[in-house]
Amino acid sequence: MKKTAIAPSNIAFIKYWGKKDEVLRLPENGSISMCLSNLLTTTTVEFSRDLKKDSIQIKKDKKLVTPEDEFVEKAIKHIDRIRKVAQISDRAKIVTHNNFPASTGLSASASGFAALTVAGTAAAGLKLSDQELSVIARQGSGSACRSIPDGFVEWLDGDTSETSYAQSIYPPKYWDLVDVVAIVSTDKKDIASSLGQKRTGTNPFFPVRKSHMADKITQIKKFMKEKDFTKFGELVESEALELHAIFLTSGLVYLLPESLAVIKEVQKWRVAGLESYFTVNTGQNVHIIVEKKNEKRIIAQLKKLSYVKEIISNTPSVGTKLSDSHLF
Ligand code: PMV
Repeated sequence: MKKTAIAPSNIAFIKYWGKKDEVLRLPENGSISMCLSNLLTTTTVEFSRDLKKDSIQIKKDKKLVTPEDEFVEKAIKHIDRIRKVAQISDRAKIVTHNNFPASTGLSASASGFAALTVAGTAAAGLKLSDQELSVIARQGSGSACRSIPDGFVEWLDGDTSETSYAQSIYPPKYWDLVDVVAIVSTDKKDIASSLGQKRTGTNPFFPVRKSHMADKITQIKKFMKEKDFTKFGELVESEALELHAIFLTSGLVYLLPESLAVIKEVQKWRVAGLESYFTVNTGQNVHIIVEKKNEKRIIAQLKKLSYVKEIISNTPSVGTKLSDSHLF
């Protein structure tokens, strides 16, 4: 059976960093995110008895490219998880397409593993709930579990595989927020998130972070409930800076001079009355969170910055869905 899924990336307001169980990928803390309407991965999976081996290709500019070995290994490992649940042994053909650059801080692994999970399980004949899909997606890449449900999402850290999943806390239309992404470079990061997480394990500041993560989750949920954009934004920004402080003190420099320049601009605009807040993941590209009414003004400001190469505006979106537009 051939199935296709379209998955959004997501931006974490309170972020996942560090694992309490490496194999099951149970996070040290819960996290809160929003699915992004214009950062999408489309993946088609077909299982067939006629296939001699698994194959995976990336569709780029209408051409099919064979990905790096590491990418292939991770994807096949995930397909093995799905085969185990479905109790099948057929080999798979996979084609995947991203509408945005990978490995640059835009969480392509979140949309990638969410799309692979939904297309793969459906192609294997499984009919699973969003909760079950989220549990499977999490094992491919932690943040992928948050791309399964719709809108504004909470990943419950959990103590077992079955209790560590993401669920929608508000639908996409709940709050008119926009994530305007400023692309300052499409160069790939040199240290993947998974390797970075290992490096920060012994960071002396990490226990401090750990000790207040549950409070941060409670606080952000309160600000979301009250739609208090100022308090929400301030917490989003300080959370990103705290995580980057841990990165920096572990020798992980993800920010480029241009990323810092965008961050300084956001702070300047805010003083001048244009309210917006930044957040950054493991990469150089900056997410600017703004209310819909200010989206156009932010874009106009970003267009004036010569070092911003591309601007991708995202509204809160639905999670991962099946589609009839197959890639092969
Ligand atoms: O899911 P991973 O292994 O790509 O890690 C994601 C880590 C951050 O993007 C920095 C934070 C997050 O919660 O998305």
